[in-house]
Amino acid sequence: MMEVVQELGFFKTVEERRSVRLFDQETPFDHDLVRKCLEAAILSPNSSNLQLYQFVRVPESSPIKDKLAELCMRQKAATTARELVVVVTRRDLWKSRAAANYEYIKSATQNQPEKKKKQALSYYSNLIPKLYSKYPGWTLLKKLIAFFMGLKRPMVREVGETEVRISVHKSAALASMTFMLGMKAVGYDTCPMEGYDSKRVHKLLNLSSGSEICMIIGCGPGLPGGIYGERFRLNSEELIKSI
Ligand SMILES: Cc1cc2nc3c(=O)[nH]c(=O)nc-3n(C[C@H](O)[C@H](O)[C@H](O)COP(=O)(O)O)c2cc1C
Repeated sequence: MMEVVQELGFFKTVEERRSVRLFDQETPFDHDLVRKCLEAAILSPNSSNLQLYQFVRVPESSPIKDKLAELCMRQKAATTARELVVVVTRRDLWKSRAAANYEYIKSATQNQPEKKKKQALSYYSNLIPKLYSKYPGWTLLKKLIAFFMGLKRPMVREVGETEVRISVHKSAALASMTFMLGMKAVGYDTCPMEGYDSKRVHKLLNLSSGSEICMIIGCGPGLPGGIYGERFRLNSEELIKSI
């Protein structure tokens, strides 16, 4: 593996990361560093630790790279990318991922008090199935239960199917962000994209029916011309409020 090109401090990494839409075709690109950054990304926080996402790597050598770039509406960030990382949500894997957590907790809490152990296990054997199972009318029922329980005490209201999907996307997006910062920290650039034909990408990658695409990230050594202008952000007073 090529040596880490540069190790920037956190804030410098954040400042230097830009969405870069043009990648150099000549500079050697170390695909192993993509792997390293993806390994870091999976350490990101994620809802209930279910880890309901997958990164599908499509490097420049892949027979489907050009086709995938075409489905990203031929954006330069995709056509010139040395690798495309498709961030896929896997809501459909909730049972096996809950089971993995259950088994892990069972072994990790062996020496803990029975009550604490039961509580932790019940989260994955009881609560998660209630939230993630799909039955006709289930969303309405869950919402009604949340509503009535919420009359007496604070209650999580985001229990419907749409909210579950949003939650899964949140976790995938957080992992994506860690990945992009990691790439910047090792000296590479990225461009997150939502401009793609999701239906066709789904088919091209032969994704399971319960999968959705969170975003596609173009990666590579960026070219200066790939940064379209100075960075613009609103005044932080607009975006950060204290109450
Ligand atoms: C979810 C998401 C989708 C995006 N989709 C695209 C895209 O399809 N094409 C593109 O060129 N940039 C895309 N961007 C990049 C944004 O335009 C960019 O982050 C924003 O303009 C701020 O610029 P900066 O990333 O350089 O700070 C996307 C960013 C996010 C977070």
